[in-house]
Amino acid sequence: MSAAPEIRIMTDSQELAYEAAELFVWLGEQAMASNVRFRVALSGGTTPKGLYAALAGPAFSTKLAWPRVDFYFGDERCVPPDHPDSNFCMANETLFRPLTIQPAQVFRMLGEDNRPARAALQYEELLRKRFSASPPAWPRFDLVLLGLGEDGHTASLFPGTQALDEREKLVVATTAPQGVKDRLTLTAPAINSARAIVFLVSGSSKANAVWLALEAPVQNNRRVPARLIRPETGRLIWLLDRTAASELTMAKQGIVSHEE
Ligand code: 6PG
Repeated sequence: MSAAPEIRIMTDSQELAYEAAELFVWLGEQAMASNVRFRVALSGGTTPKGLYAALAGPAFSTKLAWPRVDFYFGDERCVPPDHPDSNFCMANETLFRPLTIQPAQVFRMLGEDNRPARAALQYEELLRKRFSASPPAWPRFDLVLLGLGEDGHTASLFPGTQALDEREKLVVATTAPQGVKDRLTLTAPAINSARAIVFLVSGSSKANAVWLALEAPVQNNRRVPARLIRPETGRLIWLLDRTAASELTMAKQGIVSHEE
């Protein structure tokens, strides 16, 4: 049985980004103490921009042995790597370039492949090779960063899609109901194998999805894919700003930072 999620509520998005950066560095130090590499799967969307700016900024850019960090992706839109909607493009501009991360440290999903199923297979093979994890073993990321959509999706695991039922594959091609339609995503079991999973959620527009994910008596988790994210043995940490947490009972009780 996986541990209950740790929930930390920060005052605003700036404090959220700072807390996330501190946690990122701490997890990196823990990983490097026992392995050569710190292996992270980055989230897509816009929320991580604050975290990436903090990591590349003066407070954190010297706090981690960046050449020992390998960057993977939790999901990608099926667009070229220089497309404004590309998760790789956003990370490259806000994190990799400012920290002079070398290309050999970055393992992106091939969003430009016009056959998404082939790109999914290619990434799966890459992960199994990089982590020396042949079936039935699962690659274990040191950290998987996730965001949350207003519909309760995370990575590119969208409500009611077949991707939610995948229990064998690491990576699948799927579709999104809005925005870039064709997507590549890690599956729930691939994410749940991680040593640490951190949700980063900001803004009042996400408050209902946060409640659905963490407190609502939801019968069918397929309606709220973020509820499928429960690591087997790793840590699950939700970093929220106060507006995103505003529908949670604990937030209404005035608990600003809660760590189980
Ligand atoms: C993506 C993400 C997706 C994102 C949420 C939140 O590729 O879009 O992986 O899961 O994290 O949609 O997006 P925002 O941070 O932009 O609100």
